[in-house]
Amino acid sequence: MAKRTIVTLPGDGIGVIVLEQAVRVLNAAGFDADYLYGDIGWEFWRTEGNPLPQRTIDLIEKHKIALFGAITSKPEDEAKAELNPSLRDKGYKYSSPIVGLRQHFNLDICVRPCKSYKGNPLNFIRRGSGNTIEEPLVDVVIFRQNTECLYSGVEWTNPPEKVYQAFLTHPKFRKNFGNVAVEDLSISTRIFTRKATARILMAGFEHARKYGYRSVTVCEKPNVIRETSGLMWKLAKEIQKSSFPEIKLLNTNIDAQMMWLTKNPEDYGVIVAGNMFGDIASDAFAGLIGGLGFACSAQFSSDGIAVFEPTHGSAPKYAGYEVSIVNPIAMIESACMMLDYIDEKKICSDIRNAIARVIEEGKVRTYDMMKMTGKPEVLGNGASSTVQMTDAIIEKLKN
Ligand code: NAI
Ligand code: MG
Repeated sequence: MAKRTIVTLPGDGIGVIVLEQAVRVLNAAGFDADYLYGDIGWEFWRTEGNPLPQRTIDLIEKHKIALFGAITSKPEDEAKAELNPSLRDKGYKYSSPIVGLRQHFNLDICVRPCKSYKGNPLNFIRRGSGNTIEEPLVDVVIFRQNTECLYSGVEWTNPPEKVYQAFLTHPKFRKNFGNVAVEDLSISTRIFTRKATARILMAGFEHARKYGYRSVTVCEKPNVIRETSGLMWKLAKEIQKSSFPEIKLLNTNIDAQMMWLTKNPEDYGVIVAGNMFGDIASDAFAGLIGGLGFACSAQFSSDGIAVFEPTHGSAPKYAGYEVSIVNPIAMIESACMMLDYIDEKKICSDIRNAIARVIEEGKVRTYDMMKMTGKPEVLGNGASSTVQMTDAIIEKLKN
């Protein structure tokens, strides 16, 4: 295949560390690419008043595919205090560059696979019949709508008169909240559009077909949240009937799903949810496969922009370690999602096999896999470093 150009966005803290390791693995696996570094994160907030400079947006716009580490976000007052003195009181306001990327490129589809590796000591186990212990292998892919729902920012405390009057036209609002003083009202809206809802469902169904998952489960709450969850469920039935008859369509409520996921996680394949419940479901399932050191993700727009990133943050407390202890697998797995997306199937499966062999062998384990509390001493107590984990994966790629 032709040489690729990949934008790398290391960001802050351990984002920088794990992204470097992912690129080492990609190189070792024979992936032919130029990496163009993009500025993003805290340093650029401090020095320029913008954690997502326009030049970075342009770079992503041009090359379409980005590997992203993680960024640090801080509360508004801390952000202000750390801004370069020459920029203070000039109207700069911190906002998360991840949210910025999502909004700018309309990255409305978020994919979070949660697949357990055999031999991972962090895998979920449960009691079977008698005194047996079972370790169900989880292979779930969560499709989370990424731009709407409760995260769209359409909300008020003490709503303006026009908005208040509009709410009063709803009989249930009038009945239940009509006698609450307007300044005592906080309202966050949950907006779903037909277009974005259909897109996340289509993405889920297509993934199920392409990768052989037998079911798509819509994880919302349509019996109570009738309009928005109801829209998703209705569209899911239509899409399944017209285009994916061979794929089973299931409906779970988010609350029940949180209970069932420890009872029968192996029964789920593709899960589709709105932004809020998708966020919850993906963290919950990630917990079954080893947590933040293993949870990878991808975000896609409708016009070909794709950003691949681990779901963990910048873990500032581990960023300054002389020898890094964090697990690079979530980032390396995110790079595998990128390879899959651009059809580099062989390199992708080589890397996944290498990770699987390292985990199953169990000789090289980062501190999280050893169930240790993260501190520098873990390295003397049997845990491997970030680089040692990467080295082990690269070693397996060679033979
Ligand atoms: P975090 O994900 O950075 O860290 C939480 C804890 O998870 C860590 O203290 C560590 O114990 C563990 N952990 C995370 N990644 C790990 C890895 N690769 N290997 C082993 N253990 C790992 O979340 P936290 O502490 O809530 O946030 C820290 C900063 O990161 C904040 O500024 C936050 O805003 C930002 N953040 C950024 C995200 C992103 O860039 N996508 C996502 C979440 C948080
Ligand atoms: Mg989350």
